[in-house]
Amino acid sequence: MPDHMPEDLSAVGRDLRAFTDELRSQHAVVKNNLGEWVLLRHKDVVAAAKDDSRFSSAVSRFLQIPNGLDGEEHSRYRALIDTFLTPAALQPFVPVFEEIAAELVQELMQQKGPIDAVNDLGAVFAVRAQCAWLGWPSHLEQPLLQWMKNNHAATRSGSDDEKAKVAQDFDNMIKAALEHTAQKQEALSVTQKLQQACLDGRLLTEAEVVSILRNWTGGDLGSMALCIGVLVAYLVQAKETNPHLFSEIAEFSLQQQEQFINEVLRIDCPFVSNRRVTRSPVHVAGVHIPAGARVKLNWTSANRDESVFAKNEFDPKGHAANNLVYGVGKHVCPGQVLATWQLRIVLMQLIRQTPQLRADDSLQCIREVAPLGGYERVPVHFI
Ligand code: HEM
Repeated sequence: MPDHMPEDLSAVGRDLRAFTDELRSQHAVVKNNLGEWVLLRHKDVVAAAKDDSRFSSAVSRFLQIPNGLDGEEHSRYRALIDTFLTPAALQPFVPVFEEIAAELVQELMQQKGPIDAVNDLGAVFAVRAQCAWLGWPSHLEQPLLQWMKNNHAATRSGSDDEKAKVAQDFDNMIKAALEHTAQKQEALSVTQKLQQACLDGRLLTEAEVVSILRNWTGGDLGSMALCIGVLVAYLVQAKETNPHLFSEIAEFSLQQQEQFINEVLRIDCPFVSNRRVTRSPVHVAGVHIPAGARVKLNWTSANRDESVFAKNEFDPKGHAANNLVYGVGKHVCPGQVLATWQLRIVLMQLIRQTPQLRADDSLQCIREVAPLGGYERVPVHFI
């Protein structure tokens, strides 16, 4: 270990982008105050994500399908999961998501005073869209929104007990949703299809179904809300210098719209990191990491690595191939199409319905601070 490696890297109270930019300029790897080895540079994060023979995803004692699995076992579950998230499987939900976004924007346009793009728009859209996709009842909206707040608070607190409690609350909610969908007689919902899916010639167990649904929902509702906050904050800021921004985006092809969204998220990636554990001693950028060490792949930092993304300029097309917002390697996000389509749908509804979108004059945006990324609050006016 180099002798200049900082011992305690508590990032308490700091914006993760500025904090990791500073660290990355001097260190490829740092050990944080929880004893985790944090990989900060693009090259090292990509190499570790692609090397599950040395960097295992089995980081939790709980069943995590597919996140916590490695090798062949991971591939078998992943092949099943991917069938639910292909463009063809998701296409029928596009008009549903469009309606949800259009109605929500309409609803918020009636609201007096500023709208918080993270909580009023992002969180509510994420929950409604996810319930519609999975066939969950609309009365779960409020409990899910409350759960997202509790989950956020638990992540912020860093307390393992609090995190375990919110995980248990979530499993209880999913089990209630499973009972509800079991009683429905209409066309099979995505949740019911998952319950009837076969792996190795057998049905998935309830524990497997719950784990998969947890990984489709748990962290991702929060990520979607944060991504919408980042996107709206970017729009209101960029509009001040470019009044034609909305009409330019409206002229983009679908691919250009998605590259635009991914580039905004690359520069301000609110899905901060994922964990690994080393199977053997490894060397990363000259730093010796022992076997059994807890490692963090810091996407937020790697996505801002100036050696890959020259000067961190805004270049949606040029930076697309190296963008790590959805990860890389075997565990690359299977929900990327779903997330990108949902984000595009929200973006386009805003462009169509709220040409006057602007920041609130009196309320400031509030950044999240480590260990979270993105914004806590983005106050805007739709009209
Ligand atoms: C904007 C929102 C999202 C972001 C930024 C995001 C980001 C990521 C990233 C970086 C990974 C890699 C994890 C790793 O390497 O350990 C990942 C994995 C995963 N994501 Fe997403 N994700 C998002 C939305 C979603 C959605 C909507 C779903 C599902 C419906 C989803 C399901 C998953 C699952 C199941 C994994 C684990 C894959 C595996 O281990 O093979 N994500 N996501």
